[in-house]
Order: sequence, then structure tokens, then C-alpha cells
Amino acid sequence: MSQPLRLGIAGLGTVGAGVVKIVRQKAALLTERSGREITITAVSARTRDKDRGVNLSHYAWEDDPVALATRDDVDVFVELMGGSDGPAKAAVEAALKAGKDVVTANKAMLAHHGQMLAELAEANGAVLRFEAAVAGGIPVIKALTEGLAGNDIQRVMGVMNGTCNYILTRMEDGGLTYEEAFAEADGLGYLEADPTLDVGGIDAGHKLSLLAAIAFGCKVDFDAVELEGIGKVAIDDIRQAADMGYRIKLLGVARMTGRGLEQTMTPCLVPAASPLGQLVGGTNMVVIEGDQVGQIVMRGAGAGEGPTASAVMGDVMDVARGLRVSTFGQAASSLKTCVPARSATPAPYYLRMALIDKPGALAKIATALGDSGVSINRMRQYDHVADAAPVLIVTHKTTRAALEAALEAMTATGVMVTEPVALRIENV
Ligand code: HSE
Repeated sequence: MSQPLRLGIAGLGTVGAGVVKIVRQKAALLTERSGREITITAVSARTRDKDRGVNLSHYAWEDDPVALATRDDVDVFVELMGGSDGPAKAAVEAALKAGKDVVTANKAMLAHHGQMLAELAEANGAVLRFEAAVAGGIPVIKALTEGLAGNDIQRVMGVMNGTCNYILTRMEDGGLTYEEAFAEADGLGYLEADPTLDVGGIDAGHKLSLLAAIAFGCKVDFDAVELEGIGKVAIDDIRQAADMGYRIKLLGVARMTGRGLEQTMTPCLVPAASPLGQLVGGTNMVVIEGDQVGQIVMRGAGAGEGPTASAVMGDVMDVARGLRVSTFGQAASSLKTCVPARSATPAPYYLRMALIDKPGALAKIATALGDSGVSINRMRQYDHVADAAPVLIVTHKTTRAALEAALEAMTATGVMVTEPVALRIENV
């Protein structure tokens, strides 16, 4: 049998403890499947004296993750500390420079430094794998880099922040306001230490930028992701979108267009009956469309000890088996610098507005839309609220430029009581 594969694990939070448990409890299974014993040599974390529910006494302790990453008796450095820079990046760089393979769950680090780290890995004959960084337990990186490698990828979509999906679900099924649903998620411990990473769409945007790099052979470009969080989603929109047969999701969409690479992570409407529309609670879903395979839908837990540790171990097992796939599925030097494109693919839009209650008000809105080349598909007016008439319009497919012209013309009519809400409807 081959030599054991020796892990050094930095970061012993929920995921790190989960990885230790799998290595200890499933030792025989892992060896049978990989043909090698998987062992842990040394570990590192911010605090040593803490009960993590696992026995760490068999492993050497390092206070400094860089020292751990470069130990002679570590073959694979497992980085589970988090943070885009600082100790995590320093330790990963040190490990790669020392020729160690690296497995990480760190989406922020890869979204900001993925290209540099992929180049560093290749220059040193090491692999850098990150299944656990995107959509937790869903093996989407493996699906894209391996199973779908014979496809031209046409579109990648995903609900990849469980916290946001939980909040939006509770607004719909519990009738909670955004603030109430946020407080509930907080009470359940769902929110990141910096909640804007979740509700601002940043965490999900990091993940989308990593999927887009693999899908379209581009250098990771997180800064080009059009980001909008869920903080402005109103309970009225949740209710009225539902009334029109839709659900609102924080949806990531990446696609290559003639103008360049579109990457958006924004609240969108999706048909309530679609797989994405049916995704409720804290679960994740990734949808991939390839020219040969058609549409693939993957659903599962996007966070938590077991699912994330499962993804980490998938990468560890690849290394143990000698499977050495490039970080983004192709040589780092061959990844293109893709032109970022503002999202402009024609789409239907949902418009919610409150109009003054005067004859001809609605006609003015219809004229503003028509004059801008935006065609109305469906329209609904509700009972007056405080002298204003709530109106919903679903347009036919239109360009964003035409929609923006229409919104300007609608505002100029003077019949709108408040700013209109416009949300894209993604055809899924
Ligand atoms: N905070 C994330 C979520 C999990 O709610 O999905 C880690 O990326």
C-alpha cells in the first residue's frame, strides 16, 4: 500500500472539527477507497484550550499556521480559517511554495487571489482544491471541472447563500418583515460574523465568481460581479410576486455573451414551480446548462459541519488517489482575462408601483412603457391603500436599456407616489 497521506489542518471551528471526525471515524472506509491511509499530523487554531468535541491529543499543535503549512510531515495543508487575506493567505502561499497540496473552504481568499494562488500552485507542482468553498456539500466544482468538462457551458445559476434563502422563505411563509426574518436567522446562528457578507450578497458573489471562472475559462473576477443584497426586498414584493406565480431569490447568474462575461448576484423573480422557485429554507441549489448535457440541477446543504467537511474530504480523497486537476479546471496560464459585461441580456421584468388615484394615471404609465419599447405582458391593480393605487406589471422580454428609459419616463409622468420597484425575472 502507498504511504499514508498526512494532513495538517489549520482552523478548528465547526468545519475543521467535522473533518477531524471524518478522518477518525471513517479511517477504514477512506483507506479502502483511496488505497492509502489518511492521517492527521498537526493542527492549528487561534485558541488551544477549547472543547471542540474531538480528541486532538494525538496531533502536534502549532500556534502559527504558516509553521503548520510548511512542516516536513504534512503532505496536504487543509486551510479552514477563513478570511480573504491575513493568516489564511499567508499560510496557503507558504504551503504552495513548499510544494504542499492545499485544500481550502475559503471562498473570499479565492475570489480575491484565486488566479495568483492557482499560478503559485502550478509553479510549485502542487494542487489547490476548493470544493467546500462553493455551495457547501454540493460537489459542484467537481461537476464543472470533471463531469461536465466536455461541454461548452452556457449558463450557471445558483442560490448559494442559505441564510438569504432562509430569510426570504420566512418572509413568504411566515409573513415576516425583512427585519423580523433577519432577527430570526440571527437567533438561529445562521449569520456570518459580518452579516453583510450574507445579506449584501458578497458571500454568494464570491462563490459565483469561482464558478464563472471554471465555466468560462476566465480569470476569477469578483470585482465584476454586479451585486445587490436582499435588504431592499419588501414584504409587498414577496407577496405580490407570489400572487403572480413567482418567488424572489438571491440568484447568481453567470453567462458569456457577445459583449463579455455577465455575472450578477441580485434579487430576481423565478417561477414558483421551477426547481429554484421550490427551494425553500437554508438550502442551496446550483443549476448548470451545457451544450451537450442540457440542464443539471444540484440541491443540498450549503453550510454546516457535515456537508462542508464532506466537501473538504472529497478534495482530500482526490489528492490521496493521485487525481491532480488544475484549480480552475485548466492551466492557470490559459485562463483568459474576460471582458466584464453589464447585465443586459433581454429579460422580462416585474414592476411594482403606487399610482395617484386620478383618471388617466395608468394610461400614462402604459404610454411611458410603450414609448420606450417595453411591452406589457400582464398587469394587476389592487385595492387602494391610502389614496394610492398599487399596480403590478410584468413586461415581455426587454433590454435593460429600454427598461431604464421606461422607468425614467414613468417617473416623469408625475403619477407615481413612490419610487417603482423593478426586478428581473430570470427564465429558469
Ligand atoms: N453563510 C453562508 C450561507 C455559508 O448562509 O450560505 C458560508 O458560505
